[in-house]
Amino acid sequence: MTADLRALRLTVLAGDGIGPEVTGAALRVLEAVLRPVGITLEIGPQLIGGAALDATGDPLPEASLSAALAADAVFLGAVGGPAWDSAPVRPEAGLLRLRSGLGAFANLRPVRVWPGLERYSPLRAEVLREADLLFVRELTGGIYFGRPKGVAGNAPNRHAVDTSEYSEAEVRRTAELAFRAARQRRSRVTSVDKANVLATSQLWRQVVTEVGEKFPDVALEHCLVDSFALRLLQRPGAFDVVVTENLFGDILTDEAGALTGSLGVLPSASGGGEGPWLYEPVHGSAPDIAGKGIANPLGAIATVALLLRLTLKLEELAGLVEQAVGAVIAEGRLTPDLGGEESTESLTEAVLQRLPVGATA
Ligand code: NAD
Ligand code: IPM
Ligand code: MN
Repeated sequence: MTADLRALRLTVLAGDGIGPEVTGAALRVLEAVLRPVGITLEIGPQLIGGAALDATGDPLPEASLSAALAADAVFLGAVGGPAWDSAPVRPEAGLLRLRSGLGAFANLRPVRVWPGLERYSPLRAEVLREADLLFVRELTGGIYFGRPKGVAGNAPNRHAVDTSEYSEAEVRRTAELAFRAARQRRSRVTSVDKANVLATSQLWRQVVTEVGEKFPDVALEHCLVDSFALRLLQRPGAFDVVVTENLFGDILTDEAGALTGSLGVLPSASGGGEGPWLYEPVHGSAPDIAGKGIANPLGAIATVALLLRLTLKLEELAGLVEQAVGAVIAEGRLTPDLGGEESTESLTEAVLQRLPVGATA
């Protein structure tokens, strides 16, 4: 897809909790940057998660998946919440099926500390300096998808099983994407695994090493996941691209969220297969603050920048959105998760006003 595109068909899956709140903010920003360049935004809202379960009994109705597959890109808010804790099918299952159905096997989660947010991180500013990482999380395999899986038997003899499985092809395509991304950055890849214990990690390490041989200009190091969790807090600036399996990537990117001050500012983009890319902030439905109008919209807005960059190839517009986010942060305009008093709405307005196009949706 190129900048010649005149309309962007976007399937929007707002989901649950703060999902609709941050999605609304993101769409205002997207519309505001696309309008001046003559690209129409065609929004197709669809159900996912708990909202879809309540309405249809299915956390990813067929209509949602087929609309997503037919779109140019997909934007998702968040799914899940305590209301569905004991539901036989969980809202999160819809998100997993969506990722899998779109062939979104690689989840890109860039992590950087916005100037002005250092003091909201539990780490000292000098430790955070130069922290600029890109996590490439494998997204459609591993223990999330392995079979058999389930709970069986009756109390007090219940038992549960999850299976972790990776094929060589699944590891290779994720590693290749990570090495290619590293070439656009600082040419370093850290592969995170648990090869001292897990068979899947031993295969992971072998295949990543083989892929690395095809990228002699990129430095590769392997790191065990427990040790990486420590090193990420000790010296986050030591890493560039971090590639890892599904579960480790899930956990480590929330940990990385602490570096940035709040999970609410982290964006993500998922893709790599045939389907359109899926854009979603890293955070969840935040039931503790849902409906209060105080969710931090910056993660979702920064996710819009990823969409502009990766799907539309409009690097300049992506940069403008990121600059506007940086500007409101530098001015200290923050939501309560970062100790501020802005609402989702007022902060979104502030971002819109700082877009050089001057558009306010
Ligand atoms: P969470 O990410 O929803 O919240 C963790 C903490 O971060 C909470 O204190 C929350 O208030 C805060 N937070 C998160 N996003 C924020 C934002 N934008 N602004 C301000 N504060 C924010 O994680 P959780 O509480 O463990 O999970 C809640 C539900 O969300 C669960 O059902 C989980 O499965 C789901 N979840 C969904 C996604 C997704 O849809 N992509 C991601 C993570 C969790
Ligand atoms: C995330 C979330 C999801 C995951 C859940 C909601 C299935 O935590 O996107 O990080 O584990 O992938
Ligand atoms: Mn997660």
